[in-house]
Amino acid sequence: MTSSDMDYLTIALPKGKVFGKSVEMLGKIGYTAEDLTENSRKLIITNEKEKIRFIITKTADLPTYVEYGAADIGIIGKDVLMEDCKDVYELLDLKFSLCRIMVAVPEALKQEKLSDYAHMRVATKYPQVAERFFHSMGMQMEFIKLNGSIELAPMVGLAEIIVDIVETGSTLRANNLVEVANIQVATARLIANRVSFKMKFDRINKLTEQLKALLESEA
Ligand code: PRP
Repeated sequence: MTSSDMDYLTIALPKGKVFGKSVEMLGKIGYTAEDLTENSRKLIITNEKEKIRFIITKTADLPTYVEYGAADIGIIGKDVLMEDCKDVYELLDLKFSLCRIMVAVPEALKQEKLSDYAHMRVATKYPQVAERFFHSMGMQMEFIKLNGSIELAPMVGLAEIIVDIVETGSTLRANNLVEVANIQVATARLIANRVSFKMKFDRINKLTEQLKALLESEA
């Protein structure tokens, strides 16, 4: 860590669903910067006065930036953390972006019990989570990793079932899919790089306590 790195607190935020609410929460406790908006194309946004640097990453890549110390802390969904299993500290459950990782199938192919889907193909953005789940159920499956629009896979015969996140349920409904098993509830988490957590303990701890207080005040 260079002395310049030590001066700044670098916060990674993911593009997409978690971004807006993260900016809102951080803004409420005074961590903000000009141009820190969803539409900005800037990937590094600095608040020189407060010595805060925001970096904007792809959702799936955010834990990697934090694990390697390119960011000191970050905000990311528990679903991503469960899939990636990076070596980072999970400091706080921020309670927003509530969703569930679940198993779904086309309504017409719904079976009596989960074991009836054994040996089928599972399309998912979360192959590790899916594999752990089906393994715990004693089921052998074939996993097909996709990067998005998972609901399409069973409709065009790429897979029989999917493992994906559901938030409002409207994507499932719009594509005639039904949930057949719940794997895990997930929310946004504050994470930290292990070295940064020691080297910048006061700043990171202060921010964590401020977020905790904000959550309690809004509960
Ligand atoms: C996620 C997820 C579902 C959808 C669920 O996709 O993969 O498709 O949101 O939300 P809902 O229950 O509120 O409909 P996302 O929008 O992140 O896009 P992606 O499919 O390209 O990953």
